[in-house]
Amino acid sequence: MLTLVASTFIVVAGLSLSEAVTICYFGSWAVWRQGAGKFDVEDIDPFLCTHLIYGFAEISTSSWEIEAMEPYNDLCDNYGRCAYSRFTALKKLNPDLKTLLSVGGNSVKGSTFSELSGDASKRKIFVSSAVEMLKNYSFDGLDINWMHPADKDGQPEDKENYIALLRDLHEALADEELILTACVSLEKLEVDVAYDVLGLSDAVDFILLSGYNLHGPWDTFTHHHAPLFSHPADTGDNALLNIDYGVGYWISKGVDKKKLVLGLGTYGTTWTLNNLDDNGYYAYATQAGKPGPYTATLGFLGYNEICEMQHGSDEWTVVRDPDMNEPYTYSVDKTWCGYEDSQSMWRKGQYARSQGLAGTMVWSLETDDFSGSCTGRPYNLIRSMKEGFLDLPFSTPAPPTSASTQTTSGLVTPTCGAETFIPDLYCNKYWQCVDGIPHPRECSEGLVWNNVLFTCNWPSVTALRSQTQVS
Ligand SMILES: *[C@@H]1O[C@H](CO)[C@@H](O)[C@H](O)[C@H]1NC(C)=O
Repeated sequence: MLTLVASTFIVVAGLSLSEAVTICYFGSWAVWRQGAGKFDVEDIDPFLCTHLIYGFAEISTSSWEIEAMEPYNDLCDNYGRCAYSRFTALKKLNPDLKTLLSVGGNSVKGSTFSELSGDASKRKIFVSSAVEMLKNYSFDGLDINWMHPADKDGQPEDKENYIALLRDLHEALADEELILTACVSLEKLEVDVAYDVLGLSDAVDFILLSGYNLHGPWDTFTHHHAPLFSHPADTGDNALLNIDYGVGYWISKGVDKKKLVLGLGTYGTTWTLNNLDDNGYYAYATQAGKPGPYTATLGFLGYNEICEMQHGSDEWTVVRDPDMNEPYTYSVDKTWCGYEDSQSMWRKGQYARSQGLAGTMVWSLETDDFSGSCTGRPYNLIRSMKEGFLDLPFSTPAPPTSASTQTTSGLVTPTCGAETFIPDLYCNKYWQCVDGIPHPRECSEGLVWNNVLFTCNWPSVTALRSQTQVS
């Protein structure tokens, strides 16, 4: 493990990185989720990742400046919740941490990126506003998350215009010692039309490969959304939709491996099976799976939701296909879900290391078992991914049984009244009332329950929060 770390000494935008990178996305809208799915900046463990990326900022189609997606949550103005400032303030807890702001994702249309990148004067406006935004909120860099350049919402010229945009950004950011990353597809058919691989490799500090969402309810058959290798039944284009093929393809195009980061997902994609007896790979399924209680999205379940649903239930069957490295699960109500667990994340971390990549990326923090309430270890999947990359042995705690969860709280169970949350005598624990039944909950390691904001907090961030709100 230490040989890799010691022999790799990369200089990025004037910053020395002597370690493998772990880059973690934060979906800021998770703060509006219900109950145990609610996730705010203070739920982030500042020592878990080397780089945190805040998702997402947008692009104004009138001024062509960068703009906040949700000013009330993101900014401090007009009694806003100051999430940008609280996010970058995590660096006060871990001075080695880098925080980046991501532009794009689902909130910026391909046509917007296409128009911006194809016009030098619009790029100029965008670039200077982005640098100003980063400096205003103390971010260390920018991530461009243009999901499908040159697809039906764009134009063939996106391929070269994308590089022009990244070059302009890189030049302006490097002057300020700020980092630039780009999140890209690893699907061959998309790489061919969308990316000038060498140009991209030159223009950014890290290329984040989306090693997920390769299959989903847009297919009329079940398949894992992030297969490490192909399934024996894969033919044609489906045989190219796996992580190993995509990583190999990027490498064959001459990408700088020291900039290449493998992205993994803490979630599953789901279908509703047409017939419960046909429940393997390539089972006929014409509908997306039902939304989960927290993420409320058709065809998608966070790992925290999957883990809670499976826990103590005999309605879910977990299958480890011997030909594959990742699990799937299906339930008596015909939901089929291909997802990651700690074992598959560890295995994929090992894979990224074996290919000589810079590290791993994850989408995203808030759908891992971030509190540890389901697996017994906060951020169990992301930790396993890191351990795999660092060649540390696979280790995962035995999931707590309901009985042991009760006893570890060590306190008399409170009675639920009108309130949803009840503090516990132990300041790192609390109770959540669901339909009048109190459920014991525990904050991530180092966090304490804050019964004013109804969230777990770093003890010292409570102080930071008041500083950032005053300024
Ligand atoms: C940055 O801060 C300055 C001064 O408060 C403000 O005028 C400007 O609009 C801010 N820019 C962005 C992009 O937030």
